Amino acid sequence: MEKLIISGGSPLKGTVHIGGSKNSCLPILAATLLTREKCVIRNVPDLADVRTMCDLLKWLSARVKHDRANGVIEVQAESPLGVAPYELVRKMRASVCLLGPLLARLRNCKVSLPGGCVIGNRPIDQHVKGLSRLGAEMTIENGYVHARCNELVGTDVFMGGRFGSTVTGTANILMAAVLAKGTTVIDCAACEPEIADLAHFLIKMGAKITGAGGPTIEVEGVAELHGADHAVIPDRIEAGTFMVAAAITGGDVEIKGACAAHLSAVRDKLEEAGVNVTRTNGTIRVSGGASHRALEITTMPYPGFPTDMQAQMCTLMSITPGISVVTEKIYPNRFMHLSEMARLGADVALESNTAIIKGVNYLSGAPVMASDLRASAALVLAGLVADGETEVNRIYHVDRGYEKLDQKLRHLGAHIERADE
Ligand code: EPZ
Repeated sequence: MEKLIISGGSPLKGTVHIGGSKNSCLPILAATLLTREKCVIRNVPDLADVRTMCDLLKWLSARVKHDRANGVIEVQAESPLGVAPYELVRKMRASVCLLGPLLARLRNCKVSLPGGCVIGNRPIDQHVKGLSRLGAEMTIENGYVHARCNELVGTDVFMGGRFGSTVTGTANILMAAVLAKGTTVIDCAACEPEIADLAHFLIKMGAKITGAGGPTIEVEGVAELHGADHAVIPDRIEAGTFMVAAAITGGDVEIKGACAAHLSAVRDKLEEAGVNVTRTNGTIRVSGGASHRALEITTMPYPGFPTDMQAQMCTLMSITPGISVVTEKIYPNRFMHLSEMARLGADVALESNTAIIKGVNYLSGAPVMASDLRASAALVLAGLVADGETEVNRIYHVDRGYEKLDQKLRHLGAHIERADE
């Protein structure tokens, strides 16, 4: 396994280019199963999760051509198989997005349950409920979800759970509804930009969808879909992570290629903390203020403050004077990063799903352990400012969701190296 060795103290300066969205390209790659024709997906980041999705599509006997250097993936699923195995599915929660397209295409499929995740319980009851509403018989046995139907029939589907709407659940229902008979109305749909991007791709394939990106999506089912060529949206979480990196190091960074409209909540909170954030035609410029202000943050479904940026903000708040309060409403247990941050000298306490963070004057470098994708990013950010050397171990977690994070940070002046553990 590999680790990152970081020597803190260098303000980041320069320009960073944001790649395509992990959470957009994964469901879109699954959606290529909806047609027998070739699809071309562009602006795809070179991530472990993307390679896992390609392996799954190949397992399902799709023809996959992955040009990693240029971020282009060609997929053609002429006659896909209907079983997604545990050995591959367990690597990635987004594998659950295979359910909707396989059911719509084959009327009979089995997808392994995605399994546990350190950020908390990852149920799929809303996925099962939604697909059942469209006419599927859903059974869970031997660790697999088995979905079958004679035909899918459009109807009203409510996608709200006790934590709000579900992103991959909305994606699954959308991908099933596009080939259902009649009209489907998805209420309490996830409003994340990744859903709008998926819908954009499906419409290019011939689907009839209105309202995606909002809470109510209407789908007019069609008999079949054709191939399409689509470039995925920029990764708003990668962009947000670099915004925090610029702020926490007191640097001055130009972030190119991001979609500022997807980052309003992050920008709002950074500005509230006293960070300078400016936007000039497609570039977001972030410069860390001399000192920052403590914050109160609560994670919410989009367009609220994203849970995927919660850990990164905890790091910023750990060296911000005052007492910050961070409440996690999407994954109440998503605080694995706090114990590792305490090893670096952070003063953090956890009350149920709320972190109480007392800003300290400095963090001191130490070996820490990555536990999940965004917690790992938070520990890297901590290493950028900690005195001395920080080792972030098990960085395969980082590589699942960030393309060349260490290279991009080094390009901005960070002292960060990759090494074998
Ligand atoms: C997506 O996960 C993202 N992943 C997550 O990003 C992100 O944190 C999450 O949305 C919330 O924004 C992808 O898009 C691949 P959910 P998803 O279903 O769709 C509950 C990252 O770091 N729930 O929206 O799987 C669930 O327990 C990842 O990039 C049910 O109760 O998340 C959770 O509390 C991490 N029943 C909440 O909803 C269900 O059937 C959100 O889960 C489904 C979900």
